[in-house]
Amino acid sequence: MRPSLKLPPDLRQVEAPWAGLARPTPRGGRQGTWGGAAIPWEDTTLVHDSILGTRTLHWPDEAACADAAARLAGQPALRDAFIALHGPLGAGKTTFVRHLLRALGITGRIKSPSYAVLEPHQAGDLAISHFDFYRFADPAEWADAGFRDLFAAPGLKLVEWPEKAAGMLPVPDLDLHLLPEADETRQVRAEAHTARGGQLLEAWAG
Ligand SMILES: Nc1ncnc2c1ncn2[C@@H]1O[C@H](COP(=O)(O)OP(=O)(O)OP(=O)(O)O)[C@@H](O)[C@H]1O
Ligand SMILES: [Mg+2]
Repeated sequence: MRPSLKLPPDLRQVEAPWAGLARPTPRGGRQGTWGGAAIPWEDTTLVHDSILGTRTLHWPDEAACADAAARLAGQPALRDAFIALHGPLGAGKTTFVRHLLRALGITGRIKSPSYAVLEPHQAGDLAISHFDFYRFADPAEWADAGFRDLFAAPGLKLVEWPEKAAGMLPVPDLDLHLLPEADETRQVRAEAHTARGGQLLEAWAG
């Protein structure tokens, strides 16, 4: 749990009107333009890279989340994938990752990376990096902490709050947008941005 549920006054839970359209500027741009209008940096973080495929899943409860995670764990294309998890506080990003890690064979306590930013795991010969960039504020830390190297290396990368490291992260294979509905219900929009992501999406949610 976060120490405080007070949300900073930003727009991260709000879809920009141009969301879903091709990204007007490459990642890392401080300011972009779209239809002649300048888009402030904060808003460009909400603009999606071109989407190769999309599916919408419904999880009526956490058991459905666990089932979905277990099915994804069975996909060979997951090995070197980068999956970005979006959604408000308490949406279920960490919960989904925990179920995925369990299904991949991780035993013992699975800590949330909310404070450490990165929690590494090893499942047999598979390296897994679980990030939470909610508190990530210093871009210098990106190289210093070895995050650049981790994203260039083989292994599964699972990222909560990718918006907070926009401009540094590569394009994800898969974006998962977790939208809480009533009670335990979650709507999940999955978007593929790469061939690997498309393969995963087809096999997982086709
Ligand atoms: N269908 C569901 N899928 C996932 N989690 C659910 C579902 N229904 C209820 N939950 C509960 O919602 C909570 C989700 O908390 P979790 O820490 O995973 O959120 P989070 O998105 O990682 O939040 P944060 O942004 O603070 O990291 C858990 O207590 C989990 O048990
Ligand atoms: Mg979390």
